[in-house]
Amino acid sequence: MDISVGQQREMEATIRLLFQDSPTEQLPYELRPHMKAKGAVTWFFGRATERHELVVGLGERERFDLEALRDAAGNAGRAAEKEKIREACVTFESLAPLFAAGLDGKSAVTAWTEGWLLGTYAFDRYLSKTQERSVLKLHIACPGAEQAEQAIEWARIRALGTSFARDLVNEPPNQLTPVSFVERLQNHFAERNVEITVHRGESLERLEMVGLITVGKGSVHPPAMVEIRYCTDPSLPLMALIGKGVTFDMGGMNVKGGRDISDARMDMGGAAAVAGALDILTRAKAKANLLALLPIAENVPDGGAFLPSDVIRYPNGLSVQTANTDAEGRLILADALLHADRLGANRVVDIATLTGNVGEALGLKLAGIWGDAEMTAQLLAAGDGCGDRLWPMPLVDDYEELLKSDYADMTNISPISYGGAIVAALFIRRFVAAGMKWVHIDMAPPVQAKATGGYRVAGATGYGARLLADFVLSK
Ligand code: BES
Ligand code: ZN
Ligand code: ZN
Repeated sequence: MDISVGQQREMEATIRLLFQDSPTEQLPYELRPHMKAKGAVTWFFGRATERHELVVGLGERERFDLEALRDAAGNAGRAAEKEKIREACVTFESLAPLFAAGLDGKSAVTAWTEGWLLGTYAFDRYLSKTQERSVLKLHIACPGAEQAEQAIEWARIRALGTSFARDLVNEPPNQLTPVSFVERLQNHFAERNVEITVHRGESLERLEMVGLITVGKGSVHPPAMVEIRYCTDPSLPLMALIGKGVTFDMGGMNVKGGRDISDARMDMGGAAAVAGALDILTRAKAKANLLALLPIAENVPDGGAFLPSDVIRYPNGLSVQTANTDAEGRLILADALLHADRLGANRVVDIATLTGNVGEALGLKLAGIWGDAEMTAQLLAAGDGCGDRLWPMPLVDDYEELLKSDYADMTNISPISYGGAIVAALFIRRFVAAGMKWVHIDMAPPVQAKATGGYRVAGATGYGARLLADFVLSK
């Protein structure tokens, strides 16, 4: 799709953004108030030779932010595709007072483009009937931001990285196995300025990655630790991004039940977030010193699978009773944290679809974040900016006792279900090296959207890709 920015143009369709209080007397049609509500899209079709107009509601002016603009663009994009529009011009006229008050025009152009591209995303590779994209040209008329080609390019990069993450998360587990996932990463990053190392089999044994070896035991697809280095500025301190990559979480021997547990394929959302962020950063040729660590495994039961109550010992000396094989994420994150320290990372973010419990606390739209206060503040700011929202959660020392085991140094599951996401964070903290700055993000709730709306399409959201990229760029 050709996307441009500049003066207002006459095109097949005009997209008009309206706040609840935007004046509409000049318009050649009559608007109902609900048409200006947030999320509303209304067509006014022209006759024969006339143009069409799409009115997009922005709701209350006071509540407007770039996330609202991304959502509006997503809704507009789908409306345009549905009507098989080929060319559209969106006018930012109604945002003019906000630009005058300090809203950056280029950021608005980026937000609109990003929202449009992500809102018209479709995971359709397994559908026999797919819809061709109809919109070939999108023009953005933005007062004061005529020279905003870079803003469009940046949005394209962000949308590509997020879509890459969405594709990985949406992929079914017969297509994305621990083996094919690794291959896809290798192919995807082959032409980028990164160095990829894959630890499997003997290499995992040598590095004593007992979590991965244990969790992966029941699967016919061998587990792997993927290590991707992206260093364009060695003067920066090494930062590690760790992403949980369980390609299917059947629970292992503590097998999950339910009529439809297809969502268990999304348990590699953390790994996808890190891969998406790396996609954005490498495309943008960002200055960074990064280490991506992706522990990848399939958690399924089998005669060879690990058993509830097995004991494993990590190279830092800690022994763990694997009381519940469904609490597998923390076991493989532990390997990655120990490895991050081994490789000299002093700032570490781990991101994982770790617990259902965090959703009980925060609902479906937020991820929880634990750990270092300064990194947390930076990530919260990045999340508020890009829409991948986070909420700070406590590391409650009193709950450490919930990790007590009668016959190992610790257990991988609390005897009570309350505060399960906090206990999981405490578990992971035991593997954080002294002096290492660390945060843990539990993104189990926002890994997917249950319904289409705004720039999120039902299915994988690509949560974390833009968040982590923006975080890396934020200093
Ligand atoms: N991957 C799941 C967490 C999860 C649950 C993600 C629902 C997305 C949606 C994780 O491995 C898991 O099974 N966690 C258990 C932990 C429990 C056994 C301590 C859970 O949350 O129930
Ligand atoms: Zn599990
Ligand atoms: Zn899991």
